[in-house]
Amino acid sequence: MAIAVITGAASGIGAAVREQFVAAGMEVIGIDLKRADVRADLSTAAGLRSALDDVLQRTGGTIDRLICCAGLGPQAEPPGRTAAVNYFGAVALLDGLFDALKRGTNPAAVVVASSSAVLQSWADNPLRDAYLGGDEARVQALVATLPAEQAGYVAYASSKYAVSVAVRQRAAAWGNARVRLNVVAPGAVQTPLLEAGLSDPRYSEAIRNFVAPLGRRAEAHEIATLIGFVASEQAAFVHGSVLFIDGGLDASARPFDF
Ligand code: NAI
Repeated sequence: MAIAVITGAASGIGAAVREQFVAAGMEVIGIDLKRADVRADLSTAAGLRSALDDVLQRTGGTIDRLICCAGLGPQAEPPGRTAAVNYFGAVALLDGLFDALKRGTNPAAVVVASSSAVLQSWADNPLRDAYLGGDEARVQALVATLPAEQAGYVAYASSKYAVSVAVRQRAAAWGNARVRLNVVAPGAVQTPLLEAGLSDPRYSEAIRNFVAPLGRRAEAHEIATLIGFVASEQAAFVHGSVLFIDGGLDASARPFDF
């Protein structure tokens, strides 16, 4: 039986992936703050260590799928925690479980980023070098200097761009090891994270205006279906890619770029 590890498995997209994997006959180990097989706070070094130790003990050091869904939105406080979970937590899970994936069968990992990551300039982003250098203390210090009305969104979008870059940076080594690694980048998805943003006056209008050409938000199961495909053997040549699933949002926001 294939073993899948899913972070953020208690809610939203992660819970939908969990449901689909269980229905497909996989053994799923969910990691989350609560309502999970492995309860851990992926924003802290201690939480990451205990999550990795627990997962490796439960799996005997062999994993077939890793899906990194755990994340916080722009409204989460403090904004530095968003950068910690979305970037540093995801990268620690990837690197910490790489050897276990190498021992898996047709192994694959998927990181959930966001199509909104490309709406800000990455080249001019003040956090770029700190992310690329893996300097969490510097990222936290820079986020703390941002104006309060921007900090959450900048922390969110930059963390999602940075984690997409982290995947691309690993494509050569992971490909050589025959472990596939990709990003799925959703637009607006109807989940508790999006609902929390809608009820925050700082972000509600922007989220309401973040409407896809298809005229609706995605449901979590639609994102889970793409994640499941990308992680499956049917996608055996998909590697190092960032796959948008946003109902046309990015194309309509940037019609002259890709
Ligand atoms: P959600 O809030 O329903 O699920 C996120 C899960 O991550 C929750 O169960 C939460 O407890 C867990 N989590 C958060 N911080 C954690 C921590 N420190 N340690 C362990 N677990 C933690 O949200 P949703 O929408 O399902 O989000 C899943 C992923 O999709 C996130 O990475 C999010 O940024 C991303 N995403 C969501 C979009 C949306 O519109 N809902 C759009 C684009 C990306």
